[in-house]
Amino acid sequence: MTRTLALALALCALARPAAAQAPDARALWATHCQTCHGLKGKAPMRYAVQGVPDLNAADWQSMRTDKQIRALIADGSKGTQMEAFKAKLKSAEIDALVKLIRGFAAKK
Ligand code: HEC
Repeated sequence: MTRTLALALALCALARPAAAQAPDARALWATHCQTCHGLKGKAPMRYAVQGVPDLNAADWQSMRTDKQIRALIADGSKGTQMEAFKAKLKSAEIDALVKLIRGFAAKK
């Protein structure tokens, strides 16, 4: 029992530095974004009707540069429920989310 616990703690200690280096975009998405944007970037109906774009859509993807997506996540969209996340997320975490969103386009 105690040995298992010690092993588990040792594994946690090993895992931590790696997690700090590469933000887990999937986990961030699930925590901060999924409610309004769906598991894979397609907003649930109640948000889609409020004008949340389908982030999978090729036309939306081609309309936005990474820089624009980044700025949108950091600063939000005034007058909508899309809040500014720069106080909640680190710069590297926002970058990871931009990559994740770009990945939505590829996976249908
Ligand atoms: C409370 C609901 C809500 C949450 C949570 C939310 N969003 Fe949004 N998001 C919106 C709405 C509403 C819009 C549409 C904004 C507009 O019309 O300008 C939007 C738009 C966007 C867009 C597209 C903007 C455009 O028009 O090009 C991106 C990208 C985006 N959100 C990313 C994220 C990310 C990443 C997160 C999590 C860190 C997140 N959102 C969390 C509601 C939300």
